Amino acid sequence: MTAPQRAFSHVDESTDDVRAKVVQYLDVAASHPEIQRVRANALELFAPADGEKLLDAGCGLGEIARQLGTIVGSAGSVTALDYSAEALAVAKSRDKEGLVSYTTGDIAKLDFPDDHFDGVRAERVLQHVDDPTAALRELARVTRPGGRVCVIDTDWASLVDDGLDKGQEILQFIIGAGVFKNPAIGRTIRARMIEAGLDAVTTLPVTLRFTCPEDAGKVIPIFSEEGATALPGMVPAELSDAFFPSVQRATEQGVFLVAFTMWITVGQVR
Ligand SMILES: C[S@@+](CC[C@H](N)C(=O)[O-])C[C@H]1O[C@@H](n2cnc3c(N)ncnc32)[C@H](O)[C@@H]1O
Repeated sequence: MTAPQRAFSHVDESTDDVRAKVVQYLDVAASHPEIQRVRANALELFAPADGEKLLDAGCGLGEIARQLGTIVGSAGSVTALDYSAEALAVAKSRDKEGLVSYTTGDIAKLDFPDDHFDGVRAERVLQHVDDPTAALRELARVTRPGGRVCVIDTDWASLVDDGLDKGQEILQFIIGAGVFKNPAIGRTIRARMIEAGLDAVTTLPVTLRFTCPEDAGKVIPIFSEEGATALPGMVPAELSDAFFPSVQRATEQGVFLVAFTMWITVGQVR
């Protein structure tokens, strides 16, 4: 894994190999039932409607932007923004019906006027940005009074396992190494929205659970094939030498279990 610290914050500056893996990771994660469960809950709370003007900031490969495009219909519009031109190119190539407008940009410095959108969303983006407060302020600024800001983000510090050896130590090591700029951001969004002056802030924790490592690896990189290759070089040998055999043991015994929480938070602009 080349420079994992920047793989999601600066996709375009990564090597071809890392960029391809980021795209692959986003695709595999998006098709995972646990991520789809989070997204279904988020859609319900965000409540997009026919005719609305919406923004998906940090849209990645754009599957949610396209879904929103079908909901708002021709009377509405959806803009998909991402820092990565590469992610946007993939997103655009998949949008055969032209449901969405695409633009590169920084979520913390949006190039839209005040009160421009009826609703904005950002999924698994704030964990990767330098200044999540600025990002949240920008999302609120470009949303009209009465419009909604919906942030879906992870709390990597909530990751738990049952009986894996050194699992928590490895997680702490990775968090300490700065792979995620804001690893526990999910749980902080409610307070951040309230402090930013948003009204009617609602937050929903969704705990994702995985009962085999292949399945977990689709969403939690340390359990993926890529993680298994990269981890021994990233963490001290005494951690990885204990961890991998314990994953194998738990799998053989049919008792592998890991879980972590993602938070969906929605607030209304005054
Ligand atoms: C983990 S991916 C999530 C993508 C998508 N929201 C999803 O749920 O599949 C993070 C995305 O945020 C984008 N990103 C990172 N920093 C950003 C920034 N400052 N402004 C806009 N997008 C950013 C990355 O390029 C990447 O596409």
